[in-house]
Amino acid sequence: MSTFLQRFPATRPRRLRRDAAVRAMVREHRLHPSDLILPVFVLEGAGRTEDVASMPGVQRLSLDRLLPLAEQCVTLGVPAMALFPVIDDARKSDDGREALNPEGLVPQVVRTLKARFPQLALMTDVALDPYTAHGQDGLLDPSGYILNDETVEVLVGQALVQAEAGVDMVAPSDMMDGRIGAIREALEAHGHIHTRIMAYSAKYASAFYGPFRDAVGSAGKLGKADKKVYQMDPGNSDEALREVALDLAEGADMVMVKPGLPYLDIVRRVKDEFGVPTFAYQVSGEYAMLKAAAANGWLAHDAVMMESLLAFRRAGADGILSYFALDAARWLREHPLD
Ligand code: PBG
Repeated sequence: MSTFLQRFPATRPRRLRRDAAVRAMVREHRLHPSDLILPVFVLEGAGRTEDVASMPGVQRLSLDRLLPLAEQCVTLGVPAMALFPVIDDARKSDDGREALNPEGLVPQVVRTLKARFPQLALMTDVALDPYTAHGQDGLLDPSGYILNDETVEVLVGQALVQAEAGVDMVAPSDMMDGRIGAIREALEAHGHIHTRIMAYSAKYASAFYGPFRDAVGSAGKLGKADKKVYQMDPGNSDEALREVALDLAEGADMVMVKPGLPYLDIVRRVKDEFGVPTFAYQVSGEYAMLKAAAANGWLAHDAVMMESLLAFRRAGADGILSYFALDAARWLREHPLD
């Protein structure tokens, strides 16, 4: 060995980390506002704003109060919003039939938002949980089992109502078997050839959805019941690939992994295996954890927000649904080198 190599490290990776300019030049993955999708909770009526206690900074809003959020998305370059309706109990039923109402909350909101902000893409959830008196995503048989094929029939109707209203993407989040194929066929048959399907393909039975269920009011309805007979078991990874393969074969344009950070290994496997537009959902419980720690002064809010979102990109996600979408887009605008 030469004296040189004895006296100095052979390579100095730290050279590339010494200042912000060079760090930015060699950064492999970055976040852009166009990677983000903002999920929002919509209330019936007008002039209504309600805080979601378990999601600080997130509110349920009536349509009139939602318009400024849509405008912020447009201004900040966040390309899409995902709509989640909060339905009054009076309209909930065992069969969730309000999901099929062409004059219901979701179709109305879609029509108004598309008229006001045509450039903002809208995504609507296809699942019955906001509409059912029992809080499950599908129809129950007398034993309480969630029926598959009967539920798919209703979901097809729900997706068609959303497509008629002009939504850009329908997003089945119900995890029934065969629903992507059935929805695609119906969309084609009705001439909705441009409606994209973003499939919640690898959706796990996760306790991280707790705050979301508070937000849409399905938590109290579900009680001790869970969704393990249709959502995936958190111990499974190969199964996620089988689910994605099925959804793609049935006609999905984009696939999703959910929850997010605890399932980044799944995001990576899906992206590597299929190379299709792959999205991840940083769900309500992940948001609540970071918010709670930040509120206690245990974590630095903006830093963990941005680091967690960047991690999705590094894992291979093309986009992220996140309640932080607007805050993150604002942060990116103010920190061009970070
Ligand atoms: C229900 C649905 C859920 C979420 C999106 N759609 C909850 C569930 O499956 O119970 C969760 C999103 C979040 O936690 O942020 N169809």
